[in-house]
Amino acid sequence: MNFRALIFDSGVGGLSVAAEISKRLPALAMDYVADDEFRPYGEKTPAQLKARLPGLIAILANMLSPDVIVIACNTASTTALAGIRAAVSVPVVGVVPAIKPAALATRTGTIAVLGTPGTVAREYVDDLITDFASGKDVLLQGSVNLVDIAEDKLAGRPVDLARIQTELAPLFSGRRGANIDAVVLACTHFPLLRDELKAAVSQSVQWIDSGEAIARRVDSLLGKLTPQDRAPRADTAFLVGPQTNADRSAAFAHFGFERVVALKP
Ligand code: DGL
Repeated sequence: MNFRALIFDSGVGGLSVAAEISKRLPALAMDYVADDEFRPYGEKTPAQLKARLPGLIAILANMLSPDVIVIACNTASTTALAGIRAAVSVPVVGVVPAIKPAALATRTGTIAVLGTPGTVAREYVDDLITDFASGKDVLLQGSVNLVDIAEDKLAGRPVDLARIQTELAPLFSGRRGANIDAVVLACTHFPLLRDELKAAVSQSVQWIDSGEAIARRVDSLLGKLTPQDRAPRADTAFLVGPQTNADRSAAFAHFGFERVVALKP
């Protein structure tokens, strides 16, 4: 298969999606782009993301000639997907927060959406709740610090469980919080902390992300495309910004991206 995918996120979060894609499509070649320079996306306004992303993705598409682009970031997908799609000529797959599966999985009727502050404030998420979780009690929690903690973890730094507990405390305290039995991981960084999240919470909770659904979507899209005839190239991670932050190189290699290159588009 000569297909090549471009996986894009603000940082290492998209690696949780890349892992699901390569599990389903081991022969698919991938490039990864982390927009280090502009992270965290969760603190940016919709206007800032809409101004940056279509142009940046168009440059990357030109440079890397992917057959499919995966915006492996909830914050970008729930804000700027239409503009990104209009800027490129290949199919673009975005992340949809897994509110529907969580609403189907809950037994208590109480679910939580844990994302970046940007994502949980988006109308897109309100619409998903109206469409797929009506009648459920839905708690929303935004966290920027969990994004940093995931970046630190993949840079090889120890994860402090107490910090994670502090982030989750507002969600699980109180009567409504005690009823939560399903949490939507509505930021692609958060599945990278799945073990720590489990350890930080005493009640029994399903942690649900969208990685597998994205992999299925990419698989079905590629079935409709014609592979390009081109020379194979090693899977590479491009880090937008002046430096390669070498401390995350081992993590990129672990996910199959042996080359890590700084990129100033
Ligand atoms: N990984 C991104 C997401 O899924 C956001 C991280 C950030 O705030 O930059 O929303």
